[in-house]
Amino acid sequence: MRLQKYIAEAQIASRRKAEEMILAGRVSVNGKIITELGTKVESDSDVVRVDDKEIHICEKLVYIMLNKPEGCVTTVKDQFNRKSVMDYVSDVKERIYPVGRLDYDTSGLLIMTNDGELTYRLTHPKHNVVKTYIAHVDRKPDERDMEKFRKGIVIDGRKTAEAEIKIIKEGKLTELEIKIREGRNRQVRKMCAAINCNVVKLKRIATGKLELGELEKGKYRYLDEKEILYLKSL
Ligand code: URA
Repeated sequence: MRLQKYIAEAQIASRRKAEEMILAGRVSVNGKIITELGTKVESDSDVVRVDDKEIHICEKLVYIMLNKPEGCVTTVKDQFNRKSVMDYVSDVKERIYPVGRLDYDTSGLLIMTNDGELTYRLTHPKHNVVKTYIAHVDRKPDERDMEKFRKGIVIDGRKTAEAEIKIIKEGKLTELEIKIREGRNRQVRKMCAAINCNVVKLKRIATGKLELGELEKGKYRYLDEKEILYLKSL
């Protein structure tokens, strides 16, 4: 971006005033005084100083909820070049990233933000907000299976924390509502497999009280003030 825009976005001065500062020789880029207006700077890598003081663009913090479709990875970059959740938020100009992960074949609620502190807290292993999923499985679990599930079952050599499970609908596939507090790798799929139920379809519908609602698959929306405060309170 142009140097005067960079200075303005760093909230040092208006663009006009920034131009005056540049012409007055008060601005340096990577240690070199620049007096030419319109000089381009890379906001990631160039060091801009005004009156010898380093300045930075403070990016606005944004919080988004995406209804992740199946068939895309949650990582920012994929070694196999598969579709990524980033493709669904490409018109967001801030550099956001996903909070936690959903499997390639899982759909539903994914929070994305550029707030590193919130991401750190929400993804910390000690963090135990309830995540709610709807799972379609190929076998109806009986009461004994569900009791086992609720008490915690061993997956990958370690017992899971207590969880909730209930049958929502019966049919060719059984629809289950599942609530877990941890975020282990493929946890819902593995817990269901441990009671001999194969997950055919999986969707996250809520993180704590934050619900996906009617948000269309592949679409995102900005969280409102109340929702942001709620996430920060967790
Ligand atoms: N549990 C899973 O098995 N997969 C997910 O994507 C999320 C939770």
